[in-house]
Amino acid sequence: MQAQTKLIGPFRQMLTMDHLSLRGSLGGKMEILREAGILVSHGTIIRTGPFAQLSKEAGRSMTVEETEKDLTVLPGFIDAHTHICFAGSRAADYAQRLEGVSYLQIASEGGGIRSTVSETRKASFETLLKNTEKRAVRLTKLGITTAEVKSGYGLNLEDELKMLRVINKANENLPIDLLPTCLAAHMKPDDFKGDPTAYLEWIIERLLPLVLKEQLAKRVDIFVEKEAFGEKEAVGFLQKAKAMGFDITVHADQFTTGGSRTAIATGACSADHLEASGDEEIRALAASKVSAVVLPGASLGLGSAFAPARKLLDAGASLTIASDWNPGSAPMGDLLTQAAILGAYEKLSMAEIIAGITFRAAHALRLRNRGILKPGLIADLTAFPVADYREILYHQGQIKPVAVWKNGQLITSHE
Ligand code: NIG
Ligand code: FE
Repeated sequence: MQAQTKLIGPFRQMLTMDHLSLRGSLGGKMEILREAGILVSHGTIIRTGPFAQLSKEAGRSMTVEETEKDLTVLPGFIDAHTHICFAGSRAADYAQRLEGVSYLQIASEGGGIRSTVSETRKASFETLLKNTEKRAVRLTKLGITTAEVKSGYGLNLEDELKMLRVINKANENLPIDLLPTCLAAHMKPDDFKGDPTAYLEWIIERLLPLVLKEQLAKRVDIFVEKEAFGEKEAVGFLQKAKAMGFDITVHADQFTTGGSRTAIATGACSADHLEASGDEEIRALAASKVSAVVLPGASLGLGSAFAPARKLLDAGASLTIASDWNPGSAPMGDLLTQAAILGAYEKLSMAEIIAGITFRAAHALRLRNRGILKPGLIADLTAFPVADYREILYHQGQIKPVAVWKNGQLITSHE
C-alpha cells in the first residue's frame, strides 16, 4: 500500500450510486454500504468497503482520516447548469413579477437579462471574480464539488471573454471544479448592428476562435425562445460550433417548445429547462441521447410549473436536476433544496433525485470520472450528519453537509 494512501471513514452509510442505470426510472433501490470506509490515493478512489476490514488490510503505511460518528456519505454533488458569474441584482424584476408582470414581458421592455448584461459589462474583472468565487464557495458548502458556469451576460467580445476568464480564474483559485460554457447566444445585444442570425455568425467567426485559442471553454450553449433565438438559426449555429469541436447544449422549451427539437437535431449533450415540453417532446428526448436537464430553481423563482420530470423518467430519458442559479429566473441557488422539492411534487424516488445531482449530472456534462463512489473515479465526497440517508431529502435541504472532500482532500468541514 503506498504512503499516499488514505482511508476516510467510518461512515454509518455510504450511498455509492453504483450499478444504477443512466436512463429511465430507478425505483427506490440504491447500494448502501454500512460502517463503510473509502480508500483514496492521489485523489482517486481505490476501494470502498467495510471500514474495519479496509483498515486491517491497509496496515501502517496508510493514514486514517477518522470521521465523526453518524455520517452518511454520497458522491459530491454536481450542479450541471448555473449562471453564477454576474454582477448586480434583479430584486426589482422579482418585485415586478410578484405584482404579475411576466419574465418575458420584463425582458421585452429592456429589463431582465439585459439589465444584468449592463451591470456585468460595467463590473471589473476583480469584482466579477469576487462575486463568482463567493457564490462558488457557497456551492461547496452545499455539498457541490463540480459546477458548470455559463457566460452570457457580456454579449460582446470584451465582456464575454472577461466572463470566461473570470470563471477559469475562479476554477484555478478554488477547490471546486467550475466548468465554463460560452453562452454568448443568450440574447442578441441591443448594441449589435444586425439581426439575430448575423449576431450568431459573429459568435462563430469572431468570438469562438478566441475562446478556442485561449482554451476558455469546451461547451457552447444557446437560448432558443421567442425573446432570444429561433429554432432554425439555432440549428445552424450549433452545427458550426460542434464542427469547431465544442460540446453543445441548449436552453430549451422554457416557455415554448422548439428548443428540445433543436437539441435533438444537432446531437446536443443536453436540453435544459423543459418546463414547456409536452408528450411529443418527452418521447423524442427519451428516444435520443440528449440528457434532459430540469431546473426546478427557475420554476420556484418564476412561480411556474415544474418540468415534467416523472414523465421524462418513465419515458426513459436520462434526467439531471440542476439549480440554474442566476440573478433573474433562479435567484435561490440551492440545488439540494430544489431537487428535494421537485421530487415531492413530481414523485421522484430518492434514487432518482440523487442520481440527478450525481452520476446523471456528470453524464449531462460528459464527465466520465465522477458522480459514483467506485474505484477509479475521483474522490469527491459530501457527508451529512445523519445515520440514515433518507433524512437528507426528508429535510428538504435544511440539513447541510458537515464535510466535503474534493479529490480526497477535506475542503470544508463545519458543525
Ligand atoms: O436559464 N432563460 C434564460 N436564461 C436563464 C435566465 C437568465 C436571467 O434571467 O438572467 C435561465 O433561466
Ligand atoms: Fe439557465
